[in-house]
Amino acid sequence: MIKTGYEAWVDEFEAERERRAALGDPEWGSPVDLAPEIIRSIQKFQVGEDGDGSALLRKADGAGDPAYREAVRLFIAEEQNHARMLALLLTAAGAPTLDGHWSDAAFVRLRRLLGLRVELLVLMIAEVVALAYYRALRDGAAHPLASGVAGRILADEERHVPFHCRRLHEGLRGLPRPARRAVTAGWRGLLACAGALVAIDHGPALRALGTSRRAFLAEVVRSSARAASAMADGPAPPAPAPVCGV
Ligand SMILES: [Fe+2]
Ligand SMILES: [Fe+2]
Repeated sequence: MIKTGYEAWVDEFEAERERRAALGDPEWGSPVDLAPEIIRSIQKFQVGEDGDGSALLRKADGAGDPAYREAVRLFIAEEQNHARMLALLLTAAGAPTLDGHWSDAAFVRLRRLLGLRVELLVLMIAEVVALAYYRALRDGAAHPLASGVAGRILADEERHVPFHCRRLHEGLRGLPRPARRAVTAGWRGLLACAGALVAIDHGPALRALGTSRRAFLAEVVRSSARAASAMADGPAPPAPAPVCGV
């Protein structure tokens, strides 16, 4: 049976959970040598990943679609797994986790005030920034444990973005096209501001990872264009199959 609703996303999240269980955790035993600026940066992202997701789950409940609610529950479990892995990575690097960070507290407070649609738009800002961040950490961390953890988280984030884009597209498609475009243009503007703030705050870590603030921000802006068009116009059609013999 072909599933076109959120049952397909539930299947995908569950398949991923089973794949994760079969793969097991990375080898946490060996000590990890990370530059202090990278540790400080990971500590802040660890706080951002950590949360019980109860407010989001309550709003997903209100959407009246049990399959969507279940997919959101599995999404939250993946985010909690990111926080867990980053905490273990910090332990391996001999560093503690932070109790909290003002930017995360402000972000959480803002999201609680919002309805599901606007909450997802705000959450998507964090998701798209995370894509660029974990890509930089995966490609730039000298230690295989750090780059391995970043690679695992990045693979999840790459699924989270189309998952939220689908729901946002459903939420926005009742609006006329110019209004949808205005919403996504505003979202891209906010995302560029958030990306710039993260680039400034994490600049020393990005440099230690072999990239620059400018390159990081360019990556955020590039990803935001793809996400915005998926929100406004729906998912891109699958790429055409390669022609035999070419
Ligand atoms: Fe995450
Ligand atoms: Fe995510």
